Parts: sequence; structure tokens; C-alpha cells
Amino acid sequence: MNAIFERCSVRNFLPKQVEREKIERILRAAFQAPSAHNRQPWEFLVITGREDREAVAAMSPWAKMCASAAAVIACCADLKKGDPDYGKNPAAGAGEDAFWVQDLSAAMENALLQITGEGLGGVWLGWYPDKGRVRSFSEKFALPSHIVPLGLIALGYPAGEARPKDRFDPARVHWESWEA
Ligand SMILES: Cc1cc2nc3c(=O)[nH]c(=O)nc-3n(C[C@H](O)[C@H](O)[C@H](O)COP(=O)(O)O)c2cc1C
Repeated sequence: MNAIFERCSVRNFLPKQVEREKIERILRAAFQAPSAHNRQPWEFLVITGREDREAVAAMSPWAKMCASAAAVIACCADLKKGDPDYGKNPAAGAGEDAFWVQDLSAAMENALLQITGEGLGGVWLGWYPDKGRVRSFSEKFALPSHIVPLGLIALGYPAGEARPKDRFDPARVHWESWEA
């Protein structure tokens, strides 16, 4: 699958809209991800408006490119779907021992690969578990309390060429036993 080896983070975008069909295929790819017990605890908020993107860009020092991206997709977990113990133990942080982080991460990677396949560029922006970023985003977009923005993807048509590096390191692959 070439998209895996062609994908790399793209942070510079052309001032050009991304067609809705492309965004829908990116979302379809995200929905195809594996998830624990097939719970599919994801919800996606697609943000294209300039003022909203600029507001998101101001929420993290590492998210400035949202201002110039064509779209930002907030990849959110529904804790009611992703955490079988949601709400049962008020002493535990909601969802902290559940698989939803992995479920959403798989969905995000699928989305990034589809972005590459569409000839677009994108970058994963870490949101959860940074409490400040989660709070700012949740307040701005009025997310219900059981919805957690795990990560954002800024995407658009790439400006310039970003090339992936080969990172394979056989010394870090252990066949059959650690010493091998
Ligand atoms: C959990 C996670 C959080 C990340 N957060 C950010 C971020 O806030 N801003 C950013 O520009 N890149 C972010 N990245 C992208 C990484 O910097 C990037 O994937 C890494 O440098 C490897 O480069 P590549 O994606 O081009 O292979 C994040 C990636 C992951 C997986």
C-alpha cells in the first residue's frame, strides 16, 4: 500500500478548498478502522470556516497551520460508546482505562492515509490528554461532556513538496526473542 510509504506530515497548504467528496472519503476511511469490541466510538467535527480555524490555531502552539488549512477534522471519542464503565465509577477519570484512545488513533491514521491517497496533505495534532486544549476546544464547539477530542487533523492541498524519510531500523525488530 503506497500511501503508507508516501504519507508524511504536511503543514503548509495552498489557499484552495478541498472538495466535499474528498472529505467524505477521508471520513469513510476513518470509519473503517478497527476498534475494540467493534465499538466504533468515534465522532467527527469538520471545521472549514476561517474564523473557527483561526480560533483552533490559537488553542495550541503546535496547531498554527489550522489557520491556513482548508479544513480541520476533530476526531472525537464518545466515552459512552468507548468505555464500558463510563459513569459507573465517579472516582476514576472517565475512560482512562478504556481502549478508546487506540480506537480513535486507528481512525486518525486511516484518515491520514486516505488524505495522502487523495493527493492532499495533512497533519495529526495531539489534543487529548492536554487538559487545556481539550477544555478550550470543547467549550468553543459546545461538545457534550462525554465527547473528548482525541486529536485534530489539519488538511489541505500541499504547498511545496514534503517527502517522507525511511525510518526502518532492523536493530529494533526482535524476531522470536529479544536477543535475536
Ligand atoms: C499523537 C501525535 C501528536 C502530534 N501532534 C502534533 C502537533 O500538535 N503539531 C504538529 O505539527 N505535529 C504533530 N504531530 C505530527 C508529528 O510531529 C509527526 O508525525 C512526526 O514528526 C513524524 O513525521 P511524519 O508525520 O512526517 O512522518 C503529532 C503526531 C502524533 C502521532
